[in-house]
Amino acid sequence: MMEPAGTPTETTDQDREKFLEMFARSIREGTLVKLTLGKYRGSVPGLTAISIQMSLIRETHFLEFDYRSAETTRTRRTIEEGTALVRELLGGDFRSGNLFTRTADYQIEYSKRLKTRFSASRPTFTEAPSMAHDREKRRLIETEGNIYLQRLGVIEESGRVKERMGDKFRQISRFIEIVAGLFAGSPLAERKELSIVDMGSGKGYLTFATYDHFTSVLGIATGVTGVEARPELVDLCNGLAEEAGFQRLRFRPGYIRDVALEDGVDILIALHACDTATDEAIHKGITAGAGIIICAPCCHKEIRPQIVPPDVLRDMLGHGIILEREAENITDTLRALLLEYNGYSAKVFEFISTEHTRKNTMIVGVRHGRAVEREKIMARIEALKSFYGIERQALETLLAGTGEIPPAVC
Ligand SMILES: C[S@@+](CC[C@H](N)C(=O)[O-])C[C@H]1O[C@@H](n2cnc3c(N)ncnc32)[C@H](O)[C@@H]1O
Repeated sequence: MMEPAGTPTETTDQDREKFLEMFARSIREGTLVKLTLGKYRGSVPGLTAISIQMSLIRETHFLEFDYRSAETTRTRRTIEEGTALVRELLGGDFRSGNLFTRTADYQIEYSKRLKTRFSASRPTFTEAPSMAHDREKRRLIETEGNIYLQRLGVIEESGRVKERMGDKFRQISRFIEIVAGLFAGSPLAERKELSIVDMGSGKGYLTFATYDHFTSVLGIATGVTGVEARPELVDLCNGLAEEAGFQRLRFRPGYIRDVALEDGVDILIALHACDTATDEAIHKGITAGAGIIICAPCCHKEIRPQIVPPDVLRDMLGHGIILEREAENITDTLRALLLEYNGYSAKVFEFISTEHTRKNTMIVGVRHGRAVEREKIMARIEALKSFYGIERQALETLLAGTGEIPPAVC
């Protein structure tokens, strides 16, 4: 849409300055809900009004201008550009302004002779507006100007996803979609501050995207820590976090089993951590009282050698590949049951199509805070283990505190 030009007028009265000062102050003090410019007298066909709201994109505030006509067109401006444009338009092409802040509403109207009427009233909105600039329409991961996806080799400078990185981009997007959905439906949804830990963060694809989503899209003050055994990846990711200006995203070297979450954690992530490192991560999450635990196991080595095939399954489990899959299914079922035992609603599902990777089972737990029938759940755990002749499972051992588990190997 063509932008309306400001028509110079002779109106430079105090009312206009007062109104513009209230607008600037509401931006400074973070109380702006929205500003609507109406009574359009310019030459753009169909345009009726502009609605202006603040957004927070990668820790920088912007003003989003919604040009209202048959269709709404949005443009984003820096705070300086946006306030300058409002100054140009108010009293020019637009002859009314309605400013909604959390402390008061302000109105300014121009008569045909460009005389102003200014008034203030009690605030219509007292809740802080969402800084998400368009929750519905916005892509889960904004590629435009996305430094971390560029540096991680997922996208071109233009924002286009590289051809060979399509699967990786889909995986990251799908992951964020899952996290966003879980978060929205969880008791954490009202939180204004969050702490997230990503265990075995690797090159940080998901860690960066998670930080970006919670801070930029949802506008929540979020601290994210990636824990990674390989120091070179930690250095790479810390450098990138700095370059991206992600102030509360940090990576630290070390093993999952050694991580101390003494300050608690709200969301614990562990995707593709090897073998029983997944159990160590879930254990850390449960004991730290995480509201959401999300993991996607990598390899499963612990259970397979323990299985004593029940008679009825002897033929089936005589095939190596079926035995391997059965071992994976038993392990992940036990993990889900142990989450339930500890007060979480647990789900196990396929999170991306098998054509992208076979490591695509996801286990999620959302802490519900309701009473749990622990004896019944434990009876189901014991029945499953005894059916397959299983003596120990790492997560159970860790939670019971009945012994050490050997370091995970991939
Ligand atoms: C397959 S990568 C997955 C990275 C990332 N979570 C993802 O899904 O994109 C697994 C990473 O976990 C790290 N890792 C494996 N076991 C670990 C442990 N016990 N403690 C810390 N990091 C571990 C590995 O070094 C590797 O970088």
